[in-house]
Amino acid sequence: MSGHGTPIPMTSHPCGPLVGTAEVPGDKSISHRSLILGAMAVGETKISGLLEGEDVLDTAKAMRALGAEVIDHGGGSWSVHGVGVGGFAEPDQVIDCGNSGTGVRLIMGAVATSPITVTFTGDASLNKRPMARVTDPLALFGTRAVGRSGGRLPMTLVGAADPVPVRYEVPVPSAQVKSAVLLAGLNAPGKTVVIEKEATRDHSERMLAGFGAEITVEDTDEGRVITLTGRPELKPQVIAVPRDPSSAAFPVCAALITPGSDVLVPGIGLNPTRAGLFTTLREMGADLTYENEREEGGEPVADLRARYSPNMKGITVPPERAASMIDEYPVLSVVAANATGKTMMGGVKELRVKESDRIDAMARGLRANGVTVEEGEDWWAVEGLGIDGVPGGGTCESFLDHRIAMSFLVLGMGAQKPVSVDDGGPIATSFPVFEPLMAGLGAKLERA
Ligand code: S3P
Repeated sequence: MSGHGTPIPMTSHPCGPLVGTAEVPGDKSISHRSLILGAMAVGETKISGLLEGEDVLDTAKAMRALGAEVIDHGGGSWSVHGVGVGGFAEPDQVIDCGNSGTGVRLIMGAVATSPITVTFTGDASLNKRPMARVTDPLALFGTRAVGRSGGRLPMTLVGAADPVPVRYEVPVPSAQVKSAVLLAGLNAPGKTVVIEKEATRDHSERMLAGFGAEITVEDTDEGRVITLTGRPELKPQVIAVPRDPSSAAFPVCAALITPGSDVLVPGIGLNPTRAGLFTTLREMGADLTYENEREEGGEPVADLRARYSPNMKGITVPPERAASMIDEYPVLSVVAANATGKTMMGGVKELRVKESDRIDAMARGLRANGVTVEEGEDWWAVEGLGIDGVPGGGTCESFLDHRIAMSFLVLGMGAQKPVSVDDGGPIATSFPVFEPLMAGLGAKLERA
């Protein structure tokens, strides 16, 4: 499956119980960062459980193009021989980050303070997305960027030969922007300070500390103040990537709305900056439990158990929770359609600049399947039809967005009639085993 290739139409038929164990792939955010930080360390970083989705494979290729040795040992086991902070070589080809906003923005940060020139491109979705949010702060280090109108890819970055450290208050809640500035700060002398008003996923901070960088995080009246001391020698790590909560969301939500289901999703990362969906589902009345809670590789982890939940109620999702579940609103809206009453989701303007405009994409597809959706610039609301109340029968556009495609396929599992998507290809970017995994639980997915 490829988001760049021929569209793959798919249909999800209403199905019987989903039962069994769903071993979802490694965390996408941590996988990108493992490769990038591994490439900036001196020596060999060993990674197990790497997500082998197209997004992360594109980042692996990019690290090779920048001079790191990246080896695939099979079965999710990889190693990276890093070139050290400031050691990237100028690539002789354009770096193609495919569908991945995280890949391109983090790599832009990583190369921004090296004296090399790098040109980036992506697929039709990525080439529409805003890059100024990253190139603006990178300019403060002395990096120059020339792209298409609206700050869009393809874009060339001329790294700062003589970078200066920066102090930057991130204007949008974005872990990608925060991380790009921190990665750039690695090769600037002195202290780079990033301030975020709302906490976003903190994998970069945790992993930078793990790789031996001097980094502090303080909660102040200004917000979260992150201070990184530049020019460390990063030490190679042994990393076991936890399974991705954003991928776990799909079998979990499917189980909640499909009669008789009981699904165990083991080993899921439950970093509080990522786990907002699960809190929200429990508030709605989902039968979702955490079993065997533990810590693995510096991240809290648990086995999730999701059972059919016919009595869920719509709620108002607190806007301050948005950053901790930003990728999960599409599939939450599917659960909301199967609850009783309205689910209100506010403070979610960022959804409009993801792989697609996710509010628009979900609203169109839900309406095509008989669900009422209201929307504004930074909010949307779904009118629940109760369990088994979604008519289905519609075809939805996935807009080159993996999470939109998977959300509509989940919708079909609990609907009265099948739900189709025009293109399931993008699913391979983050969850390449989605189809066999869901079929193994009892889902009826068909390519057509
Ligand atoms: C990510 C951050 C989020 C998220 C994306 C992964 C990351 O984007 O949507 O899937 O790994 O840093 P923003 O930081 O732009 O919100």
